[in-house]
Amino acid sequence: MSKLTVAVLFGGRSSEYEVSLVSGSTILRGLSREKYDVLAVGITKEGRWFLYEGDWDNIPEDTWQQGECRPVFLTADPCVHGLLVPASDGRMETIHVDVLFPALHGKNGEDGTIQGLFQLSGIPYVGCNTLSSAICMDKSITNSLLEGMGIAQAHYLWFFAENYSGEGRDKIRLKIHERLGYPIFVKPANAGSSVGVSKVSCEEELDAAVQKAAHEDGKIVVEEAIVGQEVECAVLGNGHPIVSGVGEIAASAEFYDYDDKYKNGTSQLYIPAHLPEETMEKIRATALRAYCRLGCSGLARVDFFVRKSDGAVLLNELNTLPGFTSISMYPKLWEAAGVPIPALLDRLISFAFERNL
Ligand SMILES: Nc1ncnc2c1ncn2[C@@H]1O[C@H](COP(=O)(O)OP(=O)(O)O)[C@@H](O)[C@H]1O
Ligand SMILES: [Mg+2]
Repeated sequence: MSKLTVAVLFGGRSSEYEVSLVSGSTILRGLSREKYDVLAVGITKEGRWFLYEGDWDNIPEDTWQQGECRPVFLTADPCVHGLLVPASDGRMETIHVDVLFPALHGKNGEDGTIQGLFQLSGIPYVGCNTLSSAICMDKSITNSLLEGMGIAQAHYLWFFAENYSGEGRDKIRLKIHERLGYPIFVKPANAGSSVGVSKVSCEEELDAAVQKAAHEDGKIVVEEAIVGQEVECAVLGNGHPIVSGVGEIAASAEFYDYDDKYKNGTSQLYIPAHLPEETMEKIRATALRAYCRLGCSGLARVDFFVRKSDGAVLLNELNTLPGFTSISMYPKLWEAAGVPIPALLDRLISFAFERNL
């Protein structure tokens, strides 16, 4: 059987560029050499695309751009079915690609924008399509749709950052006071990896938190702070997806922030979560329902809180391109279910082809 050519995209114009370098190298190394010819496509923080032919060890170190890089283009023309690389004589060389594998997180990678380009290119791609990626990226849209489905979540409200000034600021403060109280979480609607997220315990801290979130996105989501456990499960598949067991995160910091996720690494993951069986069943069923109703395909990690006071299961968010580092929950949950990373990647690729039929 001839090998399939997989192009793994890493980096990207996103605040999660560094995380993507680690996810990208995990995926590059996890793909079976017997089944696939693997191309590494690096996207810089500025959004420039390169075919990277150097040592993969330089990717997580972020020194790949000093290595063997050739400019590369993905065209919207479906007749090409591959990547275009300028040759030395000025002509374009085409490298055929069977499937695109985005190892990108956050803006421009997980939000439907690049998925739109993939769709136009006619090349099958791993993960959610444009619409479901865009929906799940925007926490205000996700929350509104989940509310419509009757899926429980933290009380929330959202506003445009530009309206947080003068009288608008007073109105927003009043709404927060009346509807949510304190403490609250303030987040950019479109971001990830806890970038721009703050816990706010009183009104005096609000301005700084809004400013921090507004640095990432023009839309701000505010939620009541939930006291309880933070748990996640992994969903895999298209029309009839499967769901993993439930994992728990015990953050070492005040909340599961960026440093805790990727730098200090002192937070603990427990698989399975410390929860009664019936609560875990509820989480798994809710994850599947949200995944299907929001039109997800390929994969997503669905994150929840379980409130301490009453055991309520509250959906926090869906991540359509979850972290794929060796310490990340998504691959770990499948590993615990007997699916190691290479087999997981095989399945993700076959779901990309299945959806493209
Ligand atoms: N309503 C909330 N109650 C309690 N903790 C929260 C709440 N919202 C967010 N957090 C904490 O902040 C972290 C990041 O927020 P999250 O909504 O997951 O955004 P991101 O997309 O950046 O991961 C969560 O993992 C959790 O630790
Ligand atoms: Mg999160």
